[in-house]
Amino acid sequence: MCGIVGYIGKREAYPILIKGLHRLEYRGYDSAGVALLDSKANLHVYKTRGKVVNLENYCKDKNVSGTIGIAHTRWATHGEPSDVNAHPHYSQSETLALIHNGIIENYLSLKQMLERKGYKFVSQTDTEVLVQFIEYIKTENKCSLYEAVHQALSQVIGAYAIGVLEKGNADTLVAARKGSPLIVGIGEAGEYFLGSDASPIVEYTKDVIYLNDEDIVEIRRGVGEIMIKNLSNVVLKPQVQKIRMDLSEIEKGGFAHFMLKEIFEQPKSLMMCMNGRVQSELQEIMLSGIRDNIEKFRNARRILISACGTSWHAALIGKYLIEYYCKIPVEVEVASEFRYRNPVIFEDDVMIAISQSGETADTLAAIELAKEKGTFIYGICNVVGSSVARATHSGTYTHAGPEIGVASTKAFTTQVAVLTMITLLLGKELGTIDRTTYKSLVRELDSIPEKIEKIVAKADEIEEMSKVFTYARNFMYLGRGYNYPVALEGALKLKEISYIHAEGYPAAEMKHGPIALVDEEMPIVVVAPKFKMYDKIVSNVEELKARKGKIIAIVSEGDKNISNIADYVIEIPNTEECLSPLLTVIPLQLLSYYIATAKGRNVDQPRNLAKSVTVE
Ligand code: F6R
Repeated sequence: MCGIVGYIGKREAYPILIKGLHRLEYRGYDSAGVALLDSKANLHVYKTRGKVVNLENYCKDKNVSGTIGIAHTRWATHGEPSDVNAHPHYSQSETLALIHNGIIENYLSLKQMLERKGYKFVSQTDTEVLVQFIEYIKTENKCSLYEAVHQALSQVIGAYAIGVLEKGNADTLVAARKGSPLIVGIGEAGEYFLGSDASPIVEYTKDVIYLNDEDIVEIRRGVGEIMIKNLSNVVLKPQVQKIRMDLSEIEKGGFAHFMLKEIFEQPKSLMMCMNGRVQSELQEIMLSGIRDNIEKFRNARRILISACGTSWHAALIGKYLIEYYCKIPVEVEVASEFRYRNPVIFEDDVMIAISQSGETADTLAAIELAKEKGTFIYGICNVVGSSVARATHSGTYTHAGPEIGVASTKAFTTQVAVLTMITLLLGKELGTIDRTTYKSLVRELDSIPEKIEKIVAKADEIEEMSKVFTYARNFMYLGRGYNYPVALEGALKLKEISYIHAEGYPAAEMKHGPIALVDEEMPIVVVAPKFKMYDKIVSNVEELKARKGKIIAIVSEGDKNISNIADYVIEIPNTEECLSPLLTVIPLQLLSYYIATAKGRNVDQPRNLAKSVTVE
């Protein structure tokens, strides 16, 4: 949610910042801006509504020289997307410029105080309040920029990642974080980068410092050193780490969109996810996080799985898996509800928190809540070093590689794969799964990437089919058992990138209301691979057909029954029921993608959305 990039060094900052903004655009794209200090230390701020390309056009005839700068791409929280609400924000005297991710919760009281002191505000943002507050403190206390930022943040309630520049001081960049990620990249010969994630930095350096909550960093040119203190004024030793990310992973590699690339990448991302963990020769699962904490799971009263959005859909599949194979009660919680409903949490519960980005504010809050009760927290996370990864006691990375498309695809399948591995290992250790089933599921899991290859090979066929449905204003998705969450996920994918209204239901629930919506206009996607509920789904499909619904069925290879009734059929290779979501979701991702592109939607940057929701 919002992207930050910063630079201080010997090179011209502007091209680095613009390139960084393009890489960060998936985090927010309703406005963008840049602040630069030129060779005379004059401060220039340029910002505009819309995408980064608008900013580039706007800056064409501007002075964009300077070797120090900060830039921002925004996903609006306070104040609509507009030129004036875009970041960076100037302070009143235009001596400071600030970029910010997050929300300052006490901005209103600070604003009222500043207004009483004569400060005027031009935007509706909480960010402008923060920069004015820093200026106020700096003027009142006649202190350095760093000191003013420190004092201001000590009085701020909320979440932030910020970067600040000061007119007349072209040698200093100050940045800070609390609850919103921020990384400092260390380049060559006194060159430093700032990023809300690694994507704007990785091209220049792999050496980074992940700032912790309440860290404030001062980067000074020439001194060649950075100083980090926390809000309690403790000086911290910078911990330099290597980012494990290649530039190719954050480029489209010939695909029209990141989303399509990421759909096609799933065989590879699953192989990376299972590498060394699914040992097909030994027919064993190796997950050190589970093995090292097996007693926590053995003694668990129940497992709570907390997540949001697509990760929540993966969590639902986790419930089916764990309850069936491990016989541990599982409750799945939407993190935003869980955190506020005063839930009953026991010390001997185990929480599994799932998050692709590792930065989702509600998931982090759910983790903190459970931690307060003494619960053991296990994370499933894609982004290495992210807040979820750091907040949890142990966990498993999905290793899906960077997911840039706003609509989550490979993150989902790798999360489900991790949940499957956890289930199999737990089931084996707890003795709730018999040896033969365990071994055959391990073998079958290992074959899933190959089977996904066969499904993505049908992309052209699915693209053709999707053209028929661009007329639709509503879609229904139905599934049962393990494939009910897949129906939810299919509906979410379609909604978010095509803006067609879609609902997912457990197929049997249809008769309790949704069937009233069915007529000849209504496309219904039925996820119906051949497992124990198959005959019941066949009946559901008959009922829908009798009401003239247009059926798109996802069926097992060689299916005869549904194939004869449905209007359109996509076959998936045969597999075990508990692994089928890893296959059935693929055609749904492709269908959404092609319907959305046929409607001319920008699938990588759907309206109103941003990749990670770091505000609640
Ligand atoms: C949907 C999507 C979102 C995320 C949700 C949670 O395609 O991407 O629903 O799944 O915002 O994000 P993470 O997994 O980063 O916590």
